[in-house]
Amino acid sequence: MNEHAQRPPAEIRYAGELARLREDDTDARPPGWALSLRAARRFALGDEKLGISRKFVGDPSLIDRSLVSLATNRGLMLVGEPGTAKSLLSELLAAAVSGTSTLTIQGGAATTEDQIKYSWNYALLVAEGPSTRSLVAAPLLRGMAEGKVVRFEEITRCPLEVQDCLLSPLSDRVLAVPELSGPESMVFAQEGFTVIATANTRDRGVNEMSAALKRRFNFETVFPIADFQTELALVEAEATALLKRSGVEAPPRRDVLEVLVTAFRELREGQTARGDATDRLSGVMSTAEAVSVAHAVGLRGWFLRGEPGTAADLVSCLAGTAAKDNAEDLAKLRRYLEQRRRHGAQWQALYEARHLLPG
Ligand SMILES: Nc1ncnc2c1ncn2[C@@H]1O[C@H](COP(=O)(O)OP(=O)(O)OP(=O)(O)O)[C@@H](O)[C@H]1O
Ligand SMILES: [Mg+2]
Repeated sequence: MNEHAQRPPAEIRYAGELARLREDDTDARPPGWALSLRAARRFALGDEKLGISRKFVGDPSLIDRSLVSLATNRGLMLVGEPGTAKSLLSELLAAAVSGTSTLTIQGGAATTEDQIKYSWNYALLVAEGPSTRSLVAAPLLRGMAEGKVVRFEEITRCPLEVQDCLLSPLSDRVLAVPELSGPESMVFAQEGFTVIATANTRDRGVNEMSAALKRRFNFETVFPIADFQTELALVEAEATALLKRSGVEAPPRRDVLEVLVTAFRELREGQTARGDATDRLSGVMSTAEAVSVAHAVGLRGWFLRGEPGTAADLVSCLAGTAAKDNAEDLAKLRRYLEQRRRHGAQWQALYEARHLLPG
């Protein structure tokens, strides 16, 4: 991977931290794990003394429970609202536990068993017949054979029959390859193999999960960040890093981010910080969304005018992320901007820029 990759996987982004944690790690670790539970916890939550950055913001006990689940013979299912860092957490856990986070299946309506288990190199298959050479391992087979964590993103978007191909790998720890003969027709899971699946609660119902499969996972809910200052700090840190990578030399302004995060929280919760009711948007006003708006605001300011983004840029960026193509949300957003919210220069600027809301 070269330095121009837009987003290298966690084990590469944090290779230095992982190496340091491994070096100092004298605690007992479950069989097949690259790190002990305590070191894996430090990797996700950070440790200032060791120079380990905080990557996931949230309840430390969620990390502990998740790691314990991974050490049992059940998989881990992370559920929650969109944009609550389920995918990020699954990536971090996989990188910590097995040193790789790229054995990933992206679930969708068109996901097939081939993409989960294995497929064939057809040229070799025709020339030589089925053999380990013509077999193309997909993430599940590789994870089992190599003893690694397999990530299954958005599992509930897959058809039920396809989801259920995880049943015997998770319970009997074996995957049959009936096309091969002899010992190669059975792939036994090595120590360290497990599955982290994610599912978002808004999409639930598209495809439910069978009771049999549910029983093979421990469920953990990932909640949005509860505290304003914590969310603000995260949005600031993430947006600063993103802007830097995009060639923007001006860091985001604190007062603009305060307006942004406040507005996101109010539109998400349908309540102002002072307790007054406001409209709640049906679209997703997650922290992930706030980070991406903060990024866009900074880009606008810098590339259009050579300065940090302002509350007026925020108005221009909000429609595309917050309202998407929902006319009702756009009307709610307009109403939100029309009420003078608070004192302060950036709140005033937000109010004055309300006409910039497109549509
Ligand atoms: N608690 C949190 N800790 C760290 N980052 C967070 C947190 N909540 C949101 N984020 C931000 O959101 C981004 C991750 O969103 P991610 O894609 O993992 O969410 P998701 O829950 O998988 O969403 P979806 O359901 O849409 O797939 C992070 O890169 C970070 O900027
Ligand atoms: Mg996700």
